[in-house]
Amino acid sequence: MTEKKRIVLSSDHAAIDLRQAIAKHIATKGWEVVDIGPVTTESTHYPLHGKAAAERVAAGDCDLGIIICGTGQGIMMAANKVKGIRCGVCHDTFSARMIRQHNDANMLSMGARVIGEGLALDIVDAFLGAAFEGGRHATRVDMIMDIEA
Ligand code: RB5
Repeated sequence: MTEKKRIVLSSDHAAIDLRQAIAKHIATKGWEVVDIGPVTTESTHYPLHGKAAAERVAAGDCDLGIIICGTGQGIMMAANKVKGIRCGVCHDTFSARMIRQHNDANMLSMGARVIGEGLALDIVDAFLGAAFEGGRHATRVDMIMDIEA
């Protein structure tokens, strides 16, 4: 039996409900969901949660990650500071597909104050359903990672 792929989910206080809806949705698609919280709506700091999720992906403990804050921007910036992370903010399905196919993104970020749950779940499906195309895109992704190195 092949092992289930693992995906880490995290958010700040602005996105608890959306994160939980995404966790439920992804679990029905055969993924093992690692939801690292937080669980209350008490005000918190998105860099902590972006970093924690990104570290799971960078360490290889999870294959992909989805992070959410109010806009998706702050938590994405924090995640991208962790070595090995390529995270994009997507509020449309085309971009969500393309960041996998062309940029080999290993994390997706969204803003719970920007889009509704229905669109967010479609974006998640687009992200998870796409695969990196390699080829000339691999050269460009390598160039990104060279900047980090
Ligand atoms: C929290 O109020 C808000 O600043 C945060 O969720 C996010 O939008 C930051 O980028």
